[in-house]
Amino acid sequence: MLKENLGIRKPILDVLSGVALEKPPVWLMRQAGRYLPEYRKVRAEAGSFLDLCFNPALAAEVTLQPIRRFAMDAAILFSDILVIPHAMGQKLEYLEGEGPKLAPVRDRAGLQALRYVSGRLDPVLETVRRTRAELPPEIALIGFAGSPWTVAAYMVEGGGSRDFAATRGWAYSDPEAFGELIDRLVDASVEYLSGQIQAGADLVQLFDSWSGILAPDQFARWVIEPTKAIVTRLRAKHPGIRIIGFPRAAGTLIARYAAATGVDAVGLDTQVPLDLIRAELPSTPLQGNLDPIRLLTGGDALDRGIDDILQAMAGHPYIFNLGHGVMQPTPPEHVGHLVQRIRGETR
Ligand code: CP3
Repeated sequence: MLKENLGIRKPILDVLSGVALEKPPVWLMRQAGRYLPEYRKVRAEAGSFLDLCFNPALAAEVTLQPIRRFAMDAAILFSDILVIPHAMGQKLEYLEGEGPKLAPVRDRAGLQALRYVSGRLDPVLETVRRTRAELPPEIALIGFAGSPWTVAAYMVEGGGSRDFAATRGWAYSDPEAFGELIDRLVDASVEYLSGQIQAGADLVQLFDSWSGILAPDQFARWVIEPTKAIVTRLRAKHPGIRIIGFPRAAGTLIARYAAATGVDAVGLDTQVPLDLIRAELPSTPLQGNLDPIRLLTGGDALDRGIDDILQAMAGHPYIFNLGHGVMQPTPPEHVGHLVQRIRGETR
């Protein structure tokens, strides 16, 4: 830790240690991105999206852009969850308007062709170093990875999917081979997140965007078990490191996830009823839940959404965030208004 950082509070870390703050700290998933004109400019300069992820100077710049504009309580590293398959040698590209495309891996032979080469992600760790050096000490830097289930789902389908049927089918038909893919993702994620922490990330978040499509026994095997393994191994290497899990759309399985994985806090998607989750997890720090469409819409819809959450989470350790990422057509002024309203700077 930098000497000048000693003794300076990061509100997010206070919440993650179980303290309820009167004004919750705030950051937003996808706070760096295409809704910001300054992002679109750097993105055009960089070439492809992956070129941007692997250019430490430009990636640090876009990580810092929303902080300069809106002064959130945390910056999130600019990268993507699919850089791990890329570092395993799986062909990956991002097609304009279509999202990620990968060469699908569907069997043992495909799996044998992949090997994680951690050095391929060194540029991302350099982004972490540069960003931490530029950030004021009270602002946390969040590192992240996708959870093994969600990353595997993109690797097997070769991109996004409506139901991820090939992935779920492989997990049923050959759990041993699919389990090997998951194990390899656990190993790579521990190494990658550990590198981010060493490079200066103050906490990490695991994004499990597709955890909500699994039956309970499959959720236990492919979401809870690997997440627990990552949490246990990261804590052994970095005692005290705070970890947020985001099991999107996991619904009634969230409480089980929180208890069994040992994450410090749980990110909530938009559909989670806050009164129910508070009753189920009375002392677990929580994050998120605001509908990104309210942020896009602005006006009363936004103010009502913010105020309802502030009221529902009063007295609970809570970090303000959305239930999913900022949507591209969101007017940047709505984001500024949100941060100010949470801090009580507007009415
Ligand atoms: O939150 C942040 O600001 C940090 C950076 C970040 C990105 N992706 C940048 C990105 C993070 C944390 C992610 C996570 C991610 N990536 C997830 C989990 C969260 C979620 O959204 O469910 C997933 C599933 C991915 C995979 C991925 N990357 C998809 C499906 C897409 C295409 C969708 C889209 O919005 O275009 C991406 C591309 C991507 N990742 C962009 C950004 C800013 C847009 C690329 C561009 O600028 O052209």
